[in-house]
Amino acid sequence: MTADGTGRALVTGASHGLGLDTARRLAAEGWSVTGAGRRPAAAVERPVPFDYRSADLSRPETCPEVAAAAGDGWDLVVHSAVYYADFHQRPRLGFADTEEMLRVNALAPYHLTLEILDRQPPERFCSVVVVNSEAMYHADRQSAPYAASKAALRLLTAGLAETCRERRAAVSTLFLGPLDDERKRADLRAIAVKLGADEEDVTRKYLKRSNPDLVIEELIDYASCFRTIRHLRDLGRLDGGSAGSLI
Ligand SMILES: NC(=O)c1ccc[n+]([C@@H]2O[C@H](COP(=O)([O-])OP(=O)(O)OC[C@H]3O[C@@H](n4cnc5c(N)ncnc54)[C@H](OP(=O)(O)O)[C@@H]3O)[C@@H](O)[C@H]2O)c1
Repeated sequence: MTADGTGRALVTGASHGLGLDTARRLAAEGWSVTGAGRRPAAAVERPVPFDYRSADLSRPETCPEVAAAAGDGWDLVVHSAVYYADFHQRPRLGFADTEEMLRVNALAPYHLTLEILDRQPPERFCSVVVVNSEAMYHADRQSAPYAASKAALRLLTAGLAETCRERRAAVSTLFLGPLDDERKRADLRAIAVKLGADEEDVTRKYLKRSNPDLVIEELIDYASCFRTIRHLRDLGRLDGGSAGSLI
């Protein structure tokens, strides 16, 4: 970690969505960032102002490769990779998709973090932020495998936090509700146009129905997520333990 609070960061899921946005924002702040995603580098939307590596996190052998990419350790790790298998669009997921979901969403962040901790120089502090979802508290016939993968991630994260107590490292969870991503925004806009309704009203109604436990009226923007990731990293540096956050 340098005097200005930046250092070496690893972001998973860095080819799309929140992971790509986080990797870009960290790079813009002066962090030296490695981002891992599944698609090839040529298929990542520009700009990509960081070291992008195409890596399939559903394969066990990927974790040691990615963990070792820093050489002399990491200051910040953000686990944002997720496999949804388009579960909303499909009546039922097969065994293979359910297994891949568990591998990418739960097993990869767990084993990758253990690999990183094993390789970390003892004097170098590492903050690990695990992105989780409010979806872990609910399940219906379509979302159950996804919710289960996130519930498993929550428990594995608790185990990692315990592991960190003996080291100079901290593991925190960033719990999120629905993000303001392009696909959701386009869907809500299309509904608003079809109904001749105000887009903000449609968004409010959607959130009330889809997330009745969350008192939010707007989708969660990436900038707020980034501020919270920074906060969790600083909190980790202070207490060396684990912290939670719900936006
Ligand atoms: N979107 C929401 O509304 C929402 C709500 C609550 C929580 N969250 C959480 O926020 C985080 C980010 O979600 P998002 O919606 O921004 O994700 P996203 O846009 O769907 O991006 C997922 C990322 O994970 C990567 N990935 C998937 N399978 C992989 C594999 N086998 N190996 C390596 N990388 C793989 C993807 O790579 P490729 O695209 O290259 O395959 C992509 O970079 C997730 O943890 C999610 O659970 C999201």
